[in-house]
Amino acid sequence: MNNSNKDLAVSVIWKDERLFFLDQTLLPNELVQEEQLTVEQVWDSIKRLKVRGAPAIGIAGAYGLIVSIRDDVSLTPQELLVEIKKNADYLNSSRPTAVNLSWALKRLTAKAEALFDKGLSTRKIIIGLTEEAVLIHEEDKILCRRIGENGLPLIKEGMGILTHCNAGALATSELGTATAPMYLAHDKGISFKVYADETRPLLQGARLTSWELQQAGIDVTLNCDDMAASLMAEGLIDMVIVGTDRVAANGDVANKIGTMGVAILASYFNIPVYVACPSSTIDLDTAIGADIEIEERGEDEVTFFGMRRTGPEGIAVRNPAFDVTPNEMVAGLITEKGIIRAPYDVNLKKMFS
Ligand code: MRU
Repeated sequence: MNNSNKDLAVSVIWKDERLFFLDQTLLPNELVQEEQLTVEQVWDSIKRLKVRGAPAIGIAGAYGLIVSIRDDVSLTPQELLVEIKKNADYLNSSRPTAVNLSWALKRLTAKAEALFDKGLSTRKIIIGLTEEAVLIHEEDKILCRRIGENGLPLIKEGMGILTHCNAGALATSELGTATAPMYLAHDKGISFKVYADETRPLLQGARLTSWELQQAGIDVTLNCDDMAASLMAEGLIDMVIVGTDRVAANGDVANKIGTMGVAILASYFNIPVYVACPSSTIDLDTAIGADIEIEERGEDEVTFFGMRRTGPEGIAVRNPAFDVTPNEMVAGLITEKGIIRAPYDVNLKKMFS
């Protein structure tokens, strides 16, 4: 990733105790870093996908919790703890599917309890929690790089790689998950082509992935979702790499709606599907994919294309934001600890419990 792209594609910024999100709803037309001043604003930004992508909403939630208590210095430590738990529950209610959000909020709440148990003052608990949020952010950069290093050998000269949604730098702290091997392969001078599914209804592939990869100088072609089969039939796709919002203990993978369709097509054409994610996205407490709560979003996202109505008023609409790809369609999970392969129930437990 070249430096100019690094500057552009930063989704969450914590600077001088202030929180900014790059408003991804405005991309690729406008680059606006919006300051987040209240916990309600952070909740709303996550809900509306101003900040999005599983690792990024974990990081955003962690800083959002700090924003919610940073001025609470007059509270007793006990009162602060109550406030932290209440605000963590509230932030966690913004989006249900990506486990990284609850993971980050649980981690901060546990840290607050540990600092409280040590008898620290309110101010010191706030400082300690802020350090923990920064650590979550910094750790994610390292995780993404390791995912990139572990996925890099999969990318061979001349390959065509299909991706769906945006599991890029915009969805994380840096480098992305699905895109991390791509950025590293590009840095090494390996030439390959990326095909980005546009990803209806909210066009994360068109607005975000194709923009982000184009900024980085990676050879990327944008295609409508319904063209994936035809690209595969043409022999243009050698591998699929996507991200995920939650991996169940049996290796079933929740990701952006349409991912399961891509995986079914890939299995027909004998194309391997890899799913890239950090350990914070692996949820061993959820046994199977069917147990993952799938966010259902508003009908306007389906009946409108941007500002233009494209479905009749009053039409019944379904808008699940994610689907679950069965583990047998996943060739491997590219994680910071290496590529995990089937049997997932055994290997995930071995590596991550
Ligand atoms: O609704 P979104 O845009 O938050 O969905 C994002 C995805 O589905 C990503 O693929 C997933 O969160 C992984 S991001 C590294």
